[in-house]
Amino acid sequence: MRMEELSYNKNMDSFDAIGNLAKRRGYFYPGSELYGGLSGTWDFGPLGVELKRNIKNLFWKSTVYDRTDVVGLDAAILMHPRVWEASGHLEAFSDPLVECKKCHHRFRADHLKGNSPAGGCPDCGNKDFTEPKKFNLLVEAFLGVVEGEKTKTYLRGEITQGVHVNFKNVLDSSRVKIPFGIAQIGKAFRNEITPSQLLFRSREFEQMELQFYVKPDDKDSMGWFEFWKNERMVWYRSLGLNSARLRFKEHGKDELAHYARAAVDIEYHVEGEGWKEMEGIHHRGDWDLRRHGEFSGTDLSYFDEEEKQKYIPWVIETSGGVDRAALFLLMDAYHEEEVKGEKRVVLKLNFAVAPYKIAVFPLLANKPDLVALAAKIRDALKTRWMVAWDDRGNIGKRYRAQDEIGTPYCVTVDFDSLENPPAGGDVTVRDRDTMMQERVKIKNLPDYFEKKLGI
Ligand code: GAP
Repeated sequence: MRMEELSYNKNMDSFDAIGNLAKRRGYFYPGSELYGGLSGTWDFGPLGVELKRNIKNLFWKSTVYDRTDVVGLDAAILMHPRVWEASGHLEAFSDPLVECKKCHHRFRADHLKGNSPAGGCPDCGNKDFTEPKKFNLLVEAFLGVVEGEKTKTYLRGEITQGVHVNFKNVLDSSRVKIPFGIAQIGKAFRNEITPSQLLFRSREFEQMELQFYVKPDDKDSMGWFEFWKNERMVWYRSLGLNSARLRFKEHGKDELAHYARAAVDIEYHVEGEGWKEMEGIHHRGDWDLRRHGEFSGTDLSYFDEEEKQKYIPWVIETSGGVDRAALFLLMDAYHEEEVKGEKRVVLKLNFAVAPYKIAVFPLLANKPDLVALAAKIRDALKTRWMVAWDDRGNIGKRYRAQDEIGTPYCVTVDFDSLENPPAGGDVTVRDRDTMMQERVKIKNLPDYFEKKLGI
């Protein structure tokens, strides 16, 4: 990779800059802030909810709507506790935990600098830690109303199991045939030892996944593994992420999760931090269906009409974090520039993911004619795109505010716009990235934006 391609954000701490902007403008806020916060949780504001919705819709479009071999599912978050025995999570879903013997703060051993005990405690500098012990990441939940008779279960640690326990239901109720996939998007929960780096590692997060069922055959399944690995990389690039900041990272045999036969991550390069995992593509073999078959006593094998053969399918999984994608999209889009001696912060978000596509401003808020025409233009554009409205402060400040949240175009309605009603006037359209302005006839705005935005 050419490093100069990565150098444009070099003067900032990526996480600080995004955390500040997110709070100030309404992308996301620390969870339960009013009560002092709840570590590892985040609340998404008016802009964050749109960004995440756009990411999820694009995932669903490319994975379900644009294909003929994938269907969707939305399983319950709460599941029978035996699910987590069968899936192996009760036994193997753990991280190594160490405790500083001086301040008693707890850390993930594999995250300490130089790996504990060589590194010192990040909080007090002490070098003396307890031996690592396994800490299970599943979040416990207790269901029922009678004390002492409550059922202990778990919030799902991955959304995956809800799909595999419904494999037979989907097979029996729809016309799918192997090879086929089931996609799902939803919340997952992990009792992370050290939630950190904003949305990167939290205790509640959203996953977007595909479980793709294939023949139990080495060559065929590895072909699908390669196929999905590449599809997913193409998808992340289509969101506008800088290709020089994306790479595959193969897992060594000793790094594989308990269910995986092969795995590769898609990583994003964070300025000043290094490569960080954004999505995992896993060859899960027959692990899930075999285990659920054994634990439930139900035959989950598949009869292949063409091959006249019965088998337990193998699974190729793509598992991405919606929150990580949102965070990396914000980081990738974040630019600080100098314009006429002043700092301009601009989010150069891809049009498809940007929360608002267009902002409409009446030049002056106290001129009813301008406000009425601007509102009419906003209402017409709103039938097609997400449109922001701002009538406060000077126009320069309004442009800067839209730059900072990533709105691609601003429309200013001024006195010339009022000439030749109803459709004869024109407005100023200003481009976020080039800051160029041009006059466009009001009646031509829908066509203009259709061409410019391409969505
Ligand atoms: N079903 C497979 C699975 O869950 P994973 O690698 O443990 O695999 C998949 O998780 C993705 O979920 C990760 O690549 C990441 O994007 C997201 N993810 C995992 N743990 C997370 C956390 N604590 N906070 C935010 N996102 C997380």
